Order: sequence, then C-alpha cells, then structure tokens
Amino acid sequence: MSTAPARPSGTLALALVGCGAISRVHVPAIRAGAPRTRITAVVDVDPARADALAADCGARAFADLGEALASGAFDAVDLMLPHHLHEEASVRCFEAGKHVLLEKPLANDPAACERILEAARRAGTVFQVAENSQYWPEVLTARDLLAAGAIGEVLTARAAFVVPPMPEFYGGPAPWRLDLAAAGGGIALDTGSHWIRPLRMWLGEVDAVVGATGRPWEAMQGESLVRALLRFRSGVVASLDGLLKSPPFAPEPMFRISGRSGEISIERPGRVVLFDAESPGGRQVGEEGGYGRSYPGQFADFEAAVLDGRPLAAGPESAVGELRTALALYRSVASGRWEPVWD
Ligand SMILES: NC(=O)c1ccc[n+]([C@@H]2O[C@H](COP(=O)([O-])OP(=O)(O)OC[C@H]3O[C@@H](n4cnc5c(N)ncnc54)[C@H](O)[C@@H]3O)[C@@H](O)[C@H]2O)c1
Repeated sequence: MSTAPARPSGTLALALVGCGAISRVHVPAIRAGAPRTRITAVVDVDPARADALAADCGARAFADLGEALASGAFDAVDLMLPHHLHEEASVRCFEAGKHVLLEKPLANDPAACERILEAARRAGTVFQVAENSQYWPEVLTARDLLAAGAIGEVLTARAAFVVPPMPEFYGGPAPWRLDLAAAGGGIALDTGSHWIRPLRMWLGEVDAVVGATGRPWEAMQGESLVRALLRFRSGVVASLDGLLKSPPFAPEPMFRISGRSGEISIERPGRVVLFDAESPGGRQVGEEGGYGRSYPGQFADFEAAVLDGRPLAAGPESAVGELRTALALYRSVASGRWEPVWD
C-alpha cells in the first residue's frame, strides 16, 4: 500500500536533499522558475538544518534519505550534497524510480560518473545535472551573438574568476570543500565548472589542457589558484583563470571572447558588452543581470522535462566534460605537459 500523500495532478513533488548553502539559493529559484513544482520533503543528516528548511518550505523533514524514499512523499529529488556522496545518493534515488536533479559535479571521477549515468538509464527517469551556467542569461546572450556572427571568427576566449571563500561555503567546523578526498579537487573542479561550461557552449568540446595550480589558501587541500589553457577540438585556445581570496578585488571581465571583427565581454555583475565596428567603444546587449539569474531556468527546464517530456537544454552526460577538463588540468600539473581531456 502506498503511503504517498495525494498531490495535485500536473505538479511535481520534489524533495530537497542536503539543506546546506546551495539549498538557500535553490528554494527561491524553484519558486521563481518552476511554478508547478512543490517542495514536499527536505532531507539532511543534520536535523536542525532539515527542520529549519522544512519550516520555510512547508515540507516534511527527514534525517535519512532511505526513510524519505520509503515515504512516497515525492517523485523527484534535488541532490545538494558534498561531492563524494553524489554517487551513492543518486544511484539510490534512481533505484527508487525518482527523477533526479544532481548538483555539479556529476561525481569526482569519470568511472563514478558512468555508474551514475548507467543507473539513470536503467531507471528511465529524468536526470539533470545542475550546471546552472547553462541557463545564465548573459552566457546565452553571448552564445546568440556568436551564432549571429557578431564578432566574426572566434580567435580566443578568456574565462576568469576571483571569488572570496564565503563562510557559507567554506566555513563551519569541518568544511568538506577543504578536504581533497571529499571535494575531489579545488576550484577548477568546483567553481571552475561554471566557467568551463560557458566556454564549451561557445567553443565546442575541450580537447586538451595545460596549466598550473597553486594553494595560496593553505587550509584548502585542493587548489585555490588556477592558470590553465584549454585547447578546443576546433583548434581555438582559451584561458581559464581562477583565484579564491578575500576582497578587495580589481574589476575584471568574467569572460572575454575575441573574434576577428570584434569582442564580447561579460562584466560583473552581469552585463554583456559588444565591441564591433559599429560600437568600437562597446555597447551593452540585453538586460543587466548576474550569476544569480542562472538558477530559475535550471528548475524550469527540470520541471518541463518531468511534466511535459521536453528535452533538457543539456543532457547529464554533458557534465562529464567539466569534470574531465579539471582532471586533465590536474594531470598536466603533475606531468608539465598538455594532457588530453578524453581517453
Ligand atoms: N551551482 C552552484 O552555483 C553551486 C554553489 C554551491 C554549491 N554547489 C553544489 O551543491 C552541492 C552542495 O554544496 P553546499 O555548498 O550546499 O554544501 P553544504 O555543506 O553547505 O551542504 C550540504 C548538506 O548536506 C548534508 N548532508 C551531508 N551528508 C548527507 C547525507 N548523507 N544525507 C543527507 N544530507 C547530508 C549536510 O549536513 C549539509 O547540510 C555540491 O555539489 C556543490 O558543488 C553548487
């Protein structure tokens, strides 16, 4: 006998699994982007966190994923867990027949990614990796400009971020992000994915990587500094620069794409500026936005995939590319050479 509570047809009952920092970003984004999605359950091994988020969402709180899955209180899960827990949690959810939205990275190594993808194929449910930069409006504007030939042939691109170690992500008594075994890497694998995905959306697949990393923040076992070159299958070479440090910061574009007849710059907090023959001094294209505007589209896409059968903007296997790019960089640091991204 099912213990599932009745829920209105045409709605998606969702469990939030992991009530930490990113859950506080997901909740308003679900409300903004996915009006047919109801948060009916929240799960966290820390009962205080689960209770607090359950109260905010009007949902049932669980301290254990197994109990939550047995309750029948939801059809889909939004997994927001430390990286080393992604595989076990997502496979359990697929085996329970749930639709899964899994925060990036897919997993910490390609073999684990493949096991998760295989579990998803067996389940036949919707599987999306929450790579929110896929939905970042400025990234989409740049993609449209490139497709329209606004800067001509692309010669190179640069992706750069300098971000602070915000206490909600790096604080607490035992922050898993500082632990290499749990996090799987440093900022190239973690924050870097949101800069690598746009490069892949614009330039195609990455073929090889060479670079250097550093640990200016010694408490973090993974790298807190990245200087890398990414060579794409097209032959175009782009750079990826990342640094985790406290403010103050100098202004710097998040992305700069250089073409034969112009340039596109994405500047903080979220402005696309096109430099071309018509506007050599640059003109803003589209609205002023920001990274935070990337999340609602992610949930709109997941909801439409589950409820309407619509294809996702990017399949989950796409997220293997960000992971493999970071892992190729780590191999390059060890070998001192260009390293292939794909075997
Ligand atoms: N897309 C983005 O911009 C973005 C930003 C931050 C984090 N993330 C991703 O979100 C995920 C979570 O990151 P976070 O910063 O929210 O971490 P966090 O540490 O703040 O939250 C993780 C939560 O999971 C809980 N937890 C641990 N083990 C559990 C288990 N077995 N069952 C249930 N709950 C468990 C912890 O108690 C904690 O509350 C990571 O994959 C991270 O890369 C994405």
